[in-house]
Amino acid sequence: MNNKVKQELLGYQSISVQENLTYFKPNKASTTVTFAEEIRKSLQEPKKSISPKFFYDENGSKIFDEICSLPEYYPFNSETEILQTLEKKLLPYLSNEFHLVELGSGSSVKTRLLIDILFKSQKHLQYFPIDISEILDQSAKNLCADYQNLTVTGVVDTFENGLDFIEHYDDKPNLITFLGSSFGNFNQNEGMKFLQKINNLMKSNDLFLIGLDLKKDQNILHSAYNDSQKTTAKFNLNVLKRINDELGADFNLENFEHHAIYDEEKGRIEMYLRSLSEQSITIQKSALSVTFSKDELIHTENSHKFSIPQIDSFLKESNFEKLEIWFDSKNYYSLVLAKKI
Ligand code: AVJ
Repeated sequence: MNNKVKQELLGYQSISVQENLTYFKPNKASTTVTFAEEIRKSLQEPKKSISPKFFYDENGSKIFDEICSLPEYYPFNSETEILQTLEKKLLPYLSNEFHLVELGSGSSVKTRLLIDILFKSQKHLQYFPIDISEILDQSAKNLCADYQNLTVTGVVDTFENGLDFIEHYDDKPNLITFLGSSFGNFNQNEGMKFLQKINNLMKSNDLFLIGLDLKKDQNILHSAYNDSQKTTAKFNLNVLKRINDELGADFNLENFEHHAIYDEEKGRIEMYLRSLSEQSITIQKSALSVTFSKDELIHTENSHKFSIPQIDSFLKESNFEKLEIWFDSKNYYSLVLAKKI
């Protein structure tokens, strides 16, 4: 199937901002319906939850950027340190003209470091940011203003749908990046399926670059998700504000609080919103009225931390050959370069 046909079938709207910048997004009505239905379902389970992908409305993406500038939030700093010293190490793998495909591009800050490296070995670059947040629009415009020989084709959608979208785009090799340890949000099954999906659509000369947070001292982990400025709390609570605004709900943000703990056995930070009183909430567009008891938790995120043997085993299991693994100077974080076996 050619790309145009496929894009239309998937119900995307194409928006040409300027000559070198186009982005695709599903129509607003369909995304709201999906959001309303998922919330309806997940708040009716015995253990209530809200998927972390809903954090990233425009405001949520901005708060996430604030998190990245916190001293306690080491994943951003550690990954940036690795990317800043990557040029010499990555260039030997970049003999052809690559496309850059980025899963979860957000505000594209770290992307610039990769774009700079790619431009050392090629004259022109086509960049495919895939992000569920509309922040993609502004960040792509900024990139185009700063890089002359860059063409941006963005997809505002989930990773899974975005990957379907770029599959078989053309014959050029892709450097597919999945930074920020967003992979840590998946549970084991979902993570495996996701890696297999990426592996299946990769060509033999494509490369995959994934950022993965490592297990470490629990105090460091705890502080990263319980920062002193309470920015992470604001980020967590923002999802309720988003549900109020987009789905017509009546959450009072004062009646919930941020709760984040490290579960050592599961090797992950778990984030929750705790109900501070017994309360009943109506979510109009989900046609749902739901009650919370005092201290009841809404699970909002898992953030897995990995060991090297775990990384080796899930890469192998999903048919990847690990080419390189790089660390920051504190050994808090890793960046893995892999290809399809
Ligand atoms: C973007 C999913 C990698 O898990 O550390 C930051 C999100 N949540 N602070 C993470 C997040 C709370 C972040 N990821």
